[in-house]
Amino acid sequence: VSADQLIRNGLFPQIRAALDVFGVLIFKGMSLTNSEQLFIAKNLGFGIHRKTGISAISANRYEDEALTDVSNLDDKGEILSVRDRKRQYGLSNRLWHTDASFRNPPGRYSILSAKVVPEGEGETEFANTREAYYALPESMRDKILGLEAHHSIAYSRQILGFEFSNEEEENLKGVKQPLVRKNKKTGLCSLYLASHCSSVLGMSIPDGRMLIRDLIEHATQDEFIYRHEWCSDDLVVWDNFATMHRGRYYNDTKKKRELVRVTTLDI
Ligand code: OGA
Ligand code: MN
Repeated sequence: VSADQLIRNGLFPQIRAALDVFGVLIFKGMSLTNSEQLFIAKNLGFGIHRKTGISAISANRYEDEALTDVSNLDDKGEILSVRDRKRQYGLSNRLWHTDASFRNPPGRYSILSAKVVPEGEGETEFANTREAYYALPESMRDKILGLEAHHSIAYSRQILGFEFSNEEEENLKGVKQPLVRKNKKTGLCSLYLASHCSSVLGMSIPDGRMLIRDLIEHATQDEFIYRHEWCSDDLVVWDNFATMHRGRYYNDTKKKRELVRVTTLDI
């Protein structure tokens, strides 16, 4: 469908239904303005994620905090230097994660629009965490059903050694989330995982982290992965309750890559 059809015909219930089945949808040739993208997000979801607590680290180049700047550019449109704090913070997008799982209500649908993309690199990979859940041995499914994990964005940054001030860390305490989610429409379960998971409630820290690692490793086997090779004007929409994703390497101190994301909330 064209951007125009999507926006004017209000295909939002159909898109939600398709996301319940496929988890990731690709729309080609969708040249969108930021306000068109916001309009789509507002109609697809039930609320919009706005960044909280970290605006000083990754200052926004856009007019609305709902528009997440997924780029390697500064506010003049120049490539960020290798030591730039915003760049180093953003490197954690290359760890497997779900968007905004570290807040309540959590992120649900992400809508990512490609403006400028390097050729032959900087793909985004998606893991189907519903298929991954049902591929687990039954004993493991029983063990994890009902468990909760703590998610914080500080943790996924600290994995790479990114350092926060005490005040920043204070603002990024995170939330607990179920380890398994059940889709309200289909009744199907999926693993709800991310590099933001720092512990499992009721388990020791090492036991919890080991369990999370094992589950992420399981869910990211080739058979569960779709790898998206970007073209400009691609719009990719995914359900964060049934997928995990990660960005892949590109030569980010030499080539520009610019995408804009809006994430809806599950309220
Ligand atoms: C995101 C994200 C990865 C990428 O926008 O949420 O994780 O490949 N992006 O840019
Ligand atoms: Mn993301």
